[in-house]
Amino acid sequence: MSSQSVNAALLSMEKAEKHFHGVHALKGVSIELRRGTVHAICGENGAGKSTLMKILMGVYTADSGSMRMKGQPVHFLSPRQALDAGIAIIEQELTPIPDMTVAENIFLGREPMLFGIFVNYAELNRQAREVLGRIKITLNPTRKMKTLSVAELQLVEIAKALSYNSEVLIMDEPTSALGEKETDVLFEIIASLKAQGKGIFYISHRMKEIFRIADVVTILRDGEYICTRPASELDTDSLVSLMISRKLEGQYVKENVPSDIPMLTVRGLARKKSHQPISLELRKGEILGIYGLVGAGRSEFLESLFGVARADGGEILVNGGPVTIRRPYDAIKNGLAFVTEDRKGSGLALILSVKDNTSLTSIRKFNKNPFINRRRESRDVKMAIDFFGIKTPSERQLVRNLSGGNQQKVVLGRWLLSNPGILLMDEPTRGIDVGAKREIYKFMSDFAGQGNGIILVSSELPEIMGMSDRILVFKNRALCGEVRRPDASEELLMRMAT
Ligand SMILES: Nc1ncnc2c1ncn2[C@@H]1O[C@H](COP(=O)(O)OP(=O)(O)OP(=O)(O)O)[C@@H](O)[C@H]1O
Ligand SMILES: [Mg+2]
Repeated sequence: MSSQSVNAALLSMEKAEKHFHGVHALKGVSIELRRGTVHAICGENGAGKSTLMKILMGVYTADSGSMRMKGQPVHFLSPRQALDAGIAIIEQELTPIPDMTVAENIFLGREPMLFGIFVNYAELNRQAREVLGRIKITLNPTRKMKTLSVAELQLVEIAKALSYNSEVLIMDEPTSALGEKETDVLFEIIASLKAQGKGIFYISHRMKEIFRIADVVTILRDGEYICTRPASELDTDSLVSLMISRKLEGQYVKENVPSDIPMLTVRGLARKKSHQPISLELRKGEILGIYGLVGAGRSEFLESLFGVARADGGEILVNGGPVTIRRPYDAIKNGLAFVTEDRKGSGLALILSVKDNTSLTSIRKFNKNPFINRRRESRDVKMAIDFFGIKTPSERQLVRNLSGGNQQKVVLGRWLLSNPGILLMDEPTRGIDVGAKREIYKFMSDFAGQGNGIILVSSELPEIMGMSDRILVFKNRALCGEVRRPDASEELLMRMAT
């Protein structure tokens, strides 16, 4: 190797500028990735992290700026070119092709062939099994993507990125749908990639992860480059204050005390394929947490409860009266709302504008009197935008153009406008930055304080412990225990869940 290529950064970007219609997403950002390092990019929702990574990956072209790989100028016009040059990405927003199998998705465009014309499926599936094995998941490669859970989709995406054996790996929120166990496996892989001299850009809103694996941290704020520091010189407080200008103190904890009046009673609700019979009671003013590992049946239970999937036994009572929930419409009619973990699949119609999205579920409410309600709709949408600090140039912006975290806020705003009494939340702060998380926690606390109830499914222990009055633990698709808030500790919950 020449001395130049030894000293040169693996990948570097000089003064990247990027405008989208009405948004100055990157304002002259420079960054340098060294071999054998995990380089974290931190910043609030909408800071420009994904945009910067998409420029490196050839998804977007920068308005100006220059890029080098191992000292040589490069200019990628498509992700294909970046891949060929040795850069792979795990994207924040997953884009599976629903009708393809896991193996077809992983090797899309580079399937092993027979006689140059037929796809060699046996070989394809064998290779897919091998790549999946690297991240220690036993997922049948012939399964259709549309049958996978969000966590499984994310794992497939990781396997796919790894299968290119690239020198540079970009990971944009790779763990947002993963639990502790899968995250540990990913971190082992990252350690071994590092040891092989590869470079990794890592984006996450989970501070704990940044301090566990990052060597270097670059901070962006509002599209601007703030600084780059060794991770060892930072702690959570200093990092957060570099990311956001306002001050945050400590962890947010739910404020009010629940009553003992039952709001929602579930008796033996079962769905053979996905979970055992489950019984629980949610009280007025309560946040009931559900903790468990990925695949423990938590999301499936919420789906049965909301009528997304048909339960095959059990009773549901709302405010003491029995109700029948066969589809989401029945649930909404009975005052339930469901913030799903999969914002793309079920939470958001990505093509619609922020305004259409926030008012979608409350459309019937608005339709009663078209004249007044048009105005009221506008007012309510503005309220949701303000309330959650949704960063959008206008309420007419298409949702798919918002940053990942801001899309999640649109999902929340949309349900907030439907005036529910009972809120089911599945990983509600997925991809949400530290500042906005607090706003959501505050909202949850106030919402419960007004005599409503929340069931919160979360894989983040600090979140579940700070926000829940009681915590139910799921294991192997069944309810396996209950912990009251004063008795909860990370160790206890982890032990019960595994
Ligand atoms: N295709 C697009 N069209 C219009 N605006 C866009 C587009 N992509 C991103 N933006 C805007 O650029 C800004 C930066 O977005 P980006 O996705 O890079 O943020 P981020 O730092 O990744 O945030 P998050 O933590 O929420 O993922 C945001 O204001 C976003 O709305
Ligand atoms: Mg992003």
